[in-house]
Amino acid sequence: MGLSPVSQYLLMFISVLSLSRETKAQTAPAVFYPFGSVAGDTVNISVEDENSTRIDLWRPFVFFGRTYNKTYVNSNGHLTFNQPSLEFYVKGFPINGSEDIIAPLWTDVDVSVNGIISYQQYSNGNVLTQATRDINQHFPYLSFTATWVLVATWDRVAYYYHSGTETSFQVVLISGGDLSFIFMNYGDCAVTYNAVQAGYDTVNSTAYFVIPGSINGSVIPNLVNSSNINVAGRWAFRVDTALDNVIGVQMRVTSFSDLTESGNIETVLEKLQQELVKSGLPSSLKLNFRRIKKTRP
Ligand SMILES: *[C@@H]1O[C@H](CO)[C@@H](O)[C@H](O)[C@H]1NC(C)=O
Ligand SMILES: *[C@@H]1O[C@H](CO)[C@@H](O)[C@H](O)[C@H]1NC(C)=O
Ligand SMILES: *[C@@H]1O[C@H](CO)[C@@H](O)[C@H](O)[C@H]1NC(C)=O
Ligand SMILES: *[C@@H]1O[C@H](CO)[C@@H](O)[C@H](O)[C@H]1NC(C)=O
Ligand SMILES: *[C@@H]1O[C@H](CO)[C@@H](O)[C@H](O)[C@H]1NC(C)=O
Ligand SMILES: *[C@@H]1O[C@H](CO)[C@@H](O)[C@H](O)[C@H]1NC(C)=O
Ligand SMILES: *[C@@H]1O[C@H](CO)[C@@H](O)[C@H](O)[C@H]1NC(C)=O
Repeated sequence: MGLSPVSQYLLMFISVLSLSRETKAQTAPAVFYPFGSVAGDTVNISVEDENSTRIDLWRPFVFFGRTYNKTYVNSNGHLTFNQPSLEFYVKGFPINGSEDIIAPLWTDVDVSVNGIISYQQYSNGNVLTQATRDINQHFPYLSFTATWVLVATWDRVAYYYHSGTETSFQVVLISGGDLSFIFMNYGDCAVTYNAVQAGYDTVNSTAYFVIPGSINGSVIPNLVNSSNINVAGRWAFRVDTALDNVIGVQMRVTSFSDLTESGNIETVLEKLQQELVKSGLPSSLKLNFRRIKKTRP
C-alpha cells in the first residue's frame, strides 16, 4: 500500500528533525574538557532519577584542608565526599552543615527522561597538559603542574517535571603538588522552576562560594556567558586552602603619594591585585576603592 501525500510529508519532517538533533549532539561547548563515550568516560548513572556513583580517586584530593580519596557523583548536579546524596531539595549556601559539597548545578535533575552523566579520571596524557596550561593561565605565579584530573559531565540532562529541556554542565577537579582547583564549565542551560545552587560549600561553611544569582533558576541560562576568570562559561577556584583567611596584605609605600591624584590609586590597586593573585586568587580579580578620603601622611 502506497503512502498518502500527508504521511510522506510527515516522514520528511521527522527525518529533518532527527538530522538536526544529530548535528546538535556533535557540538560540545567550547570550555568543556573531553567527555562522553568519545572520550572513554564511564557511565554509571543512566536510568534512575535520584542516583549516585562512588569514585575511588587515584590521587587524594585536598578540599579546604580535608583530604579525600573518594567522591560521589550525585545525579542532582553535585559532588560529595563522605556519603552519597540523593538530595533534590536544594539548600542555599552557606549551609553550615557537616559535608563538603561541590555543586556545578545542584537542582532536581532527572536522567530517566534524557541526558547522560559520565566521568573519567586522568593521571597522564593530553587532559593533564590542558589542565596545566589552563591553571597557569587563570592563576599565574603558582608554576602549577597537574598530576591528576577528574572530569564529571552532565550532558544534555533533563530537569525533573519539565521534560524536553536540555542542560549541560561539567565539573573538573584538578590537583598537583599541594594545590587543588575546580572548574565549573557551562554549556546551554535551561530555565528551571526548581531551586538551584551553583558553587561550593564546606563543613561549617568556613569557605563557600555562590555563583551570583544561581539560587534563582530563571538566571541559569546566563551561566553559559558568565565567569570569574574572563572565559565565558567557566568558573575556576583554587580549593586546597581557604584564601578567605587572607584578611590583610602588607604593602610598603616608599614615598608619599596622594591617592586622590589620578594614576596613583590605579598603581596601588594593581600592586595589591598582584599580591592577591600570587596567593592563588584568579588573575581576573578586580579591586575597587569605595571612597577616597584625603588624609595627612
Ligand atoms: C561503573 O561502570 C563501570 C563500567 O562502565 C564498572 O566497571 C563499574 O564497576 C561501575 N561502578 C559502579 C559503582 O557501579
Ligand atoms: C543507581 O543505579 C544503579 C544501576 O544503574 C542501581 O543498581 C542502584 O540501586 C541505584 N541507586 C540508587 C540509590 O537508586
Ligand atoms: C581512604 O581514606 C580512608 C581514611 O581517610 C582510609 O581508611 C582508606 O584506607 C583510604 N582508602 C584508600 C583506597 O586509600
Ligand atoms: C552553625 O552551626 C553550629 C552548630 O553546628 C552553630 O553553633 C552555629 O551557630 C551555626 N553558625 C551559623 C552562622 O549559623
Ligand atoms: C563544625 O562545628 C561543630 C559545632 O560547632 C564543631 O563541633 C566541629 O568541630 C566543626 N567542624 C569543623 C571541621 O570545623
Ligand atoms: C528571579 O529572577 C527573575 C528575573 O531576573 C526575577 O524577576 C525574580 O524576581 C527573581 N526571583 C527571586 C526569588 O529572586
Ligand atoms: C551568550 O553570548 C552569546 C555571544 O555573545 C550570545 O549569542 C548568546 O545569546 C548569549 N546567551 C545568553 C543565554 O545570554
